[in-house]
Amino acid sequence: MPIVIGAKRESDFTDPIGMLGDCHRRIEMFLNVLVRVAEQAKGAALNEEQRGALETALRYFREAAPKHTADEEESLFPRLRQIESAEVRALMVRIESLEEEHVCADRSHGEVDSLGRLWLKDGMLPADRAARLLTLVLQLRDLYRHHIATEDNEVFPAAALALSASDRQAIGSEMAHRRSLR
Ligand SMILES: [Fe+2]
Ligand SMILES: [Fe+2]
Repeated sequence: MPIVIGAKRESDFTDPIGMLGDCHRRIEMFLNVLVRVAEQAKGAALNEEQRGALETALRYFREAAPKHTADEEESLFPRLRQIESAEVRALMVRIESLEEEHVCADRSHGEVDSLGRLWLKDGMLPADRAARLLTLVLQLRDLYRHHIATEDNEVFPAAALALSASDRQAIGSEMAHRRSLR
């Protein structure tokens, strides 16, 4: 399946908040892939397209998505916590919930990864495991729908206004570093 991120030009490390939003589009896209494959194949033998799509999506959540979580938890949120503004302080309760959701999502992704890899290895999944996989990916899609909306509509716009140029630069460079690009 060709992966088309979208017509919009992607942000770069000079616009770390824009990059975090771009990552959300990839998370949504790969979650939809997991839901589609789980719904279509229901644990039965995968065709070539489904196998490739499942492998790519599992790899994305294993390797790339944790970097996005680290961008938020290690680079963005700690800097927001240091900002003395009423608007940003009002977001702190939200940020604590976001961090709890990261832990929840992480646990589910671990289980999805094990089930998905088992499917790829054995070529089939027993019915109870296929049902569990579908439940997990649907739950993840619900969790992310709410989670991403909070980040995109509340946290990131506040961050874009409140962060200093030097904070923005530091976040961008930490994000690049996480991806070994600088
Ligand atoms: Fe997040
Ligand atoms: Fe996020």
